[in-house]
Amino acid sequence: MSTTHFGFESVDEAEKARRVRGVFDSVAPKYDLMNDLMSAGLHRVWKAYTVQVANVREGDRVLDIAGGTGDLALAFAKKAGASGRVVHTDINEAMLRTGRDRLLDAGVALPTLVCDAERLPFCDGHFDLVSVAFGLRNMTHKDAALAEMNRVLKPRGRLLVLEFSKVAKPLEKAYDWYSFKVLPRLGRLVAGDDASYRYLAESIRMHPGQEELKTLMKKAGFGHVDYHNLTGGMVALHVGIKC
Ligand SMILES: C[S@@+](CC[C@H](N)C(=O)[O-])C[C@H]1O[C@@H](n2cnc3c(N)ncnc32)[C@H](O)[C@@H]1O
Repeated sequence: MSTTHFGFESVDEAEKARRVRGVFDSVAPKYDLMNDLMSAGLHRVWKAYTVQVANVREGDRVLDIAGGTGDLALAFAKKAGASGRVVHTDINEAMLRTGRDRLLDAGVALPTLVCDAERLPFCDGHFDLVSVAFGLRNMTHKDAALAEMNRVLKPRGRLLVLEFSKVAKPLEKAYDWYSFKVLPRLGRLVAGDDASYRYLAESIRMHPGQEELKTLMKKAGFGHVDYHNLTGGMVALHVGIKC
């Protein structure tokens, strides 16, 4: 079996999937609260920007991958309307269940499906838009997942990847201090789990930067790829067009 990375550790591929599941089983109940605390609410701004760029129209078919607690799925559902269809998916049942309950509380019932982004259970050319927010970093075979996202898109359909990225040089020191000193402590204090938040910091450092991800997306079949740096490159929104 080949090895891959889980944060800074080198592990078997099967072990990575198991440990990623463990992280999200553990963080699911406090996920939304921690997101707000860790990012000082900034994740809402990054997601609002993503929704604006997505420009979902009435009647669109949208697939939200690694959708977790459902922020993007909910926003897209409001735009796609009754004639559209937004499918909310994630590999982790605990995250998806938390998200489904939130959406139901907001009066929105969406098709909700446990599935692995590396093996999507949808036919070719089905969706107008595919989104993945803060999920790609956790996937073992990012190339396979991106190729699957490309496969299920219609020609001229778009993939939006919102993910942590390489921060601008002048911010590096402060960002490292925050990531490795503050985040795990916050995780222990609020969620009783420092290891998952140490994994978060490490996995961000191991994730491909802006240009590398652009290349990966092109290799996966996206004819045109562009990215928007947000908050000094802390996060990037990559937009790929199937053409
Ligand atoms: C940090 S959460 C992001 C949740 C949500 N998209 C958001 O932005 O708040 C990452 C999610 O990726 C999911 N994930 C990890 N590997 C996956 C895979 N191979 N296929 C689908 N989802 C996956 C995890 O279960 C988790 O819910």
